[in-house]
Amino acid sequence: MARRMPLLFSAFNMLAPSHHDHGQWVRDESGQRDYTRPEYWVDVARTLERARFDLLFFADVLAPYELHGGSRDAALRTGLQAPVLDAASILALLAFHTEHLGFAFTENVLQEPPYSFARRASTLDHLTGGRLGWNVVTGSIPGTGRNLGYGGLPEHADRYARAEEYLRVVYALWERSWEDDAVVRDRATGRYADPAKIHSINHSGEFYDVPGAHPSEPSPQRTPVLFTAGASDRFAQFAADHAEGVFSSIEVGDPAANVARLRAAAAAAGRDPASLKIISKFAFVLGSTEEEARRLDDELAETRSVESLLIKLSEGAKADLSVLGHQERISDILNKTGDELGGFRAQLERAPDHAWTLERYVRWHGRRHAVGTPEQIADAVEHWADVGVDGLNVHYLISPGSWEDFADHLTPELTRRGLMRAEYDPPGTTLRERLFGAGARLPASHPARRGALQPA
Ligand SMILES: Cc1cc2nc3c(=O)[nH]c(=O)nc-3n(C[C@H](O)[C@H](O)[C@H](O)COP(=O)(O)O)c2cc1C
Repeated sequence: MARRMPLLFSAFNMLAPSHHDHGQWVRDESGQRDYTRPEYWVDVARTLERARFDLLFFADVLAPYELHGGSRDAALRTGLQAPVLDAASILALLAFHTEHLGFAFTENVLQEPPYSFARRASTLDHLTGGRLGWNVVTGSIPGTGRNLGYGGLPEHADRYARAEEYLRVVYALWERSWEDDAVVRDRATGRYADPAKIHSINHSGEFYDVPGAHPSEPSPQRTPVLFTAGASDRFAQFAADHAEGVFSSIEVGDPAANVARLRAAAAAAGRDPASLKIISKFAFVLGSTEEEARRLDDELAETRSVESLLIKLSEGAKADLSVLGHQERISDILNKTGDELGGFRAQLERAPDHAWTLERYVRWHGRRHAVGTPEQIADAVEHWADVGVDGLNVHYLISPGSWEDFADHLTPELTRRGLMRAEYDPPGTTLRERLFGAGARLPASHPARRGALQPA
């Protein structure tokens, strides 16, 4: 068998009862009910390190989904990404209990001013020893904008305009405010830093005014590894301009074409298209035989929440699908002439059988993960490598069981096939060095390194 380039393995999670497992927190073996307890997360992080994962990637939303049924009730009732805690708060603890694992957290640019965010990220990059990534998102839930005082979610173009300026500010603070030798720490003279080498960024823009200097001294990576997540063409351009890793719904429609679109956007932005790490979602149910795996998958299907699945389908379709009856046939739903289906119409048209009821379709949709022996799951991983993605954001179905299964059965098989790195780099390696095999700092070609400070 030909050796492959190792993929990047990221574990996708959230500080909430349910992320993409859609209600499996009810099961005896689910640890995710303990998402408020540090012991649980330390156990997850250590298991991921045993499985040789590159990254623990925390998604985040700042308000519950509210499209399905027109209120937050369904999300809260099912525990789907609500209630939710702040994942960034736990990263230093997890870094202390691990040696190699990287940590990415998601933060919406609407959430806090860039000046204080830059300090928080520098703090985490110091405390994780340079193992930090930031998933820059612009958000899609109206409650986020409402509760942060924006009077609702800003328009799409406005969100990206804010994100562009936000990045300009944090780049200036992280990359250009402190010169490399600004910290003197000279005990003989009692001089800690050389003020002449610490520069005000003098930013005055449409959304933000930050006249001063970065309040923190430079961290190992300065700028955390930059991820972003989204779907639109504007998103693809944003990712091409800024991101080192991109998380997108590659599996929707034509995966190879989705990968090609993102690489083309990177090329159009003047980058080596291969320098953008494209990450796709992945989940699995594993057994020692295919029959055992199928039986386990059937058991999980019994506790999967149809309502929780419909909340996410409503979000994806930008339509309130609670108006549809669970027992309506797909053919009847497709005969509706109004626009109440949004993007769900195109999705339903691709359903395997139009005689199915909505519930049957939703249950089928919730089972589109790999099921089988370790060899069969590794084949599915290999398929994604063939599609051309650089990594997988693996989401658990049962946590920590999915991670334990991965460590015990998939890591050996994926390593044997060359799909997973055979060993970690030495302790002290930053996340950027590990993912890109180059320096801890952003490459000199990145826009964060190119901008000049405005004159004082
Ligand atoms: C795969 C994927 C993951 C996402 N993860 C998050 C997330 O964790 N938090 C969040 O606020 N938004 C998340 N988003 C939403 C994006 O931030 C973005 O706002 C949304 O896709 C709308 O932007 P777009 O229309 O330009 O793609 C995600 C989107 C996608 C496609």
